[in-house]
Amino acid sequence: MSGLEGVVAAQTVLSEVDGLAGRLIIRGHALDELAGRWSFEEAAGLLLAGFFPDLPDDLAPALGAARVRVFEQVAHLDANLARAPVEAIRALVARLADRDDLEIGLNLIAAPAVFTGAVLRVSTGKAPIAPDAKLGHAADSLRMMRGQAATRAQAAALDTYLVTVCDHGLNASTFAARVVASTQAGLTSAVLAGISALKGPLHGGAPGPVIDMLDAIGAPTNARVWLAEALDRGERLMGFGHRIYRVRDPRADALKAAVRDLALQEEAVCGRIALAEAVEGAALAEAVEGAALAILRERKPDRPLETNVEFYTALLLEALGFPPSAFTCVFAMGRTAGWVAHAREQVAGGRLIRPQSAYVGPPPRVAA
Ligand code: ACO
Repeated sequence: MSGLEGVVAAQTVLSEVDGLAGRLIIRGHALDELAGRWSFEEAAGLLLAGFFPDLPDDLAPALGAARVRVFEQVAHLDANLARAPVEAIRALVARLADRDDLEIGLNLIAAPAVFTGAVLRVSTGKAPIAPDAKLGHAADSLRMMRGQAATRAQAAALDTYLVTVCDHGLNASTFAARVVASTQAGLTSAVLAGISALKGPLHGGAPGPVIDMLDAIGAPTNARVWLAEALDRGERLMGFGHRIYRVRDPRADALKAAVRDLALQEEAVCGRIALAEAVEGAALAEAVEGAALAILRERKPDRPLETNVEFYTALLLEALGFPPSAFTCVFAMGRTAGWVAHAREQVAGGRLIRPQSAYVGPPPRVAA
């Protein structure tokens, strides 16, 4: 009850999370059909279809133009703000106009990609790189961060990630976005609520700590002892457990496959050393995953705790060159498409979200 589990707070055509079957459906498509096959622009178009009367059939040029529009805000970024990437992108998003139309919706979907690249560059003393509207969203996101073109395999891997996380039922950030949208505050306000909820470590802030955990464990043979000691200290193992999934999170499988594909395809581009490092990293991750699942089963036999999306997110985003401090921003790059679609759906439904609370405080004092 305290976490509202089991409460149905919205009807949606956007996505269904079936926690018992371990299945995610996005507008009539199983995640397996979309991840690794569709571009982010196609998935965003799928989510937005029917929610904006002027939505173009091909979202790619419109999203490219939106990246160029929002880049103007990067002039307001300073090195101080850039030190905390999620807070920096939230501050820059807050500068965008707060209306409820297609132009603003696309600006919001474009913004995290443009701002993340700029924030990472400014935080290391480099100049931000302007968007290239002709590129795909994933390829341009990587180029703006690194200053050099992404390989096809890297752009494809980022597309897989963005599609995998673009929507996921009424998770905490989407619920926050829908509550704000229900007040008719505007799309920008709804997305700001989403970013704020996403940043917490129990939601989108987990993959950075996953990398810290893998670094601390160091080698597969250390996994079991390290994990047991963490649980003895009362810590949670990051990247495991989920409110809805009682079996394996299907997004973890999609991303695990993307990590493997990227490592194999990068061999041609980066050579054997990079491949060897990737294979070693994957072996450590698989050993840690196996040890964590075994120990969680022993310690919490009544609570199914499986691998969630954040575990392989950490590996994929690290392989693509994103620092852990920016992982939540990359999550926001994908999820903003879902927040905008949910906000439009909520406004179309027309009712203010206003639940009740049960008062358990003291009764009013009665004068003697
Ligand atoms: N490691 C160790 N124990 C855990 C974990 C974990 N990762 N997750 C849950 N548990 C335990 C809790 O300690 C609790 O035990 P208790 O009953 O003995 O006190 C029991 O399982 C139930 O935990 P709840 O917090 O009630 O479960 P909830 O459904 O709220 O948890 C959550 C979901 C927050 C994701 C949790 O599993 C967690 O903290 N995981 C680690 C952080 C993480 O990976 N977050 C990313 C989630 S995916 C996403 O948001 C995109």
